[in-house]
Amino acid sequence: MSNNIMVPIEYLLREPFIHIIKYPYNSNNSALEDARARIKEMEALGVKGILLGGKSVIHGLNVLGKGCTSIVVKALLDVHSSGACRNSSSSRCNDSNVEDYHAVNYDDNDDAIIVALKMMRSDSGRVSMEREANMLAMANNVGIGPNLISYSSNLLAMELIDGMHMVELIRELESRNNNHHPIRIRSILNDILEQCFILDSIGLDHGELGNMNRHVMISDRTYIIDFESSSTTRSVANVTSAVNYILFGRGSRVLAGMLNLYTRRDEVISALSRYRLDMNRERFNELLTLLDLKFYKESSK
Ligand SMILES: Nc1ncnc2c1ncn2[C@@H]1O[C@H](COP(=O)(O)OP(=O)(O)OP(=O)(O)O)[C@@H](O)[C@H]1O
Ligand SMILES: [Mg+2]
Repeated sequence: MSNNIMVPIEYLLREPFIHIIKYPYNSNNSALEDARARIKEMEALGVKGILLGGKSVIHGLNVLGKGCTSIVVKALLDVHSSGACRNSSSSRCNDSNVEDYHAVNYDDNDDAIIVALKMMRSDSGRVSMEREANMLAMANNVGIGPNLISYSSNLLAMELIDGMHMVELIRELESRNNNHHPIRIRSILNDILEQCFILDSIGLDHGELGNMNRHVMISDRTYIIDFESSSTTRSVANVTSAVNYILFGRGSRVLAGMLNLYTRRDEVISALSRYRLDMNRERFNELLTLLDLKFYKESSK
């Protein structure tokens, strides 16, 4: 089915759309009940419909993403509805009818916005989206991650990123007709590491940056996504994980070549060990300099 078709919420219990909203869906009675409950939860959050589109496919329908614990779709969200509070300074919606729903600041004049809606898979084993929402909100406070718009038990609405995964960028860099300018790639890597340094500084460990393939998205700026595995109690390893990805990850050959790291790899690893002992700006700058990324700042958000 082609992209960007809007499917209103009242159609989502029908085939084949039901497979998206309650994935994986087996057509038995309890699954149908679960799907009805999911629709109610979507309505309460203010979802008016979903927009088909994206690179993943479920039952012939395009969606933004299909992860191990969730499905992510483009959705149309009514900003006047209970779930998505507008201009609220609180992270909690005060309306007594929606006490199970939470929202963060939203500042826009339109009645409906297109968001990325993360929906928990029925086989995920996760309890709730609340923890992820809290971690994302904490990252948002320091300008990192897609902006959290609202969430409920099984749903999380956030800023839609129109971009590519890190792994797609790597594939393009590996291809013969790669036309990415090395300075742009350096500024992207600089931006990712700066964001990792900020996360280290606030004590928020993302948890999955050793594999940036699908946890970094690139559009006009660079976004770290998916704070599901994040923690404020674990020791932080964001910069360490990201540097390990550059040195040893999926794109290490092309990135090490671009950054001319072949002769400096051991020095980088030593600088990383020093940074881990004392995570300060000076040690971080030393690392950036060795990676030859010190002077490639991406424009800020
Ligand atoms: N804000 C967003 N804007 C656009 N696409 C997004 C957004 N958030 C997630 N996606 C897409 O959905 C995919 C899955 O999202 P996410 O990684 O948060 O889910 P997950 O179930 O935790 O996945 P995983 O099993 O890979 O950890 C992403 O790889 C990305 O393609
Ligand atoms: Mg995840």
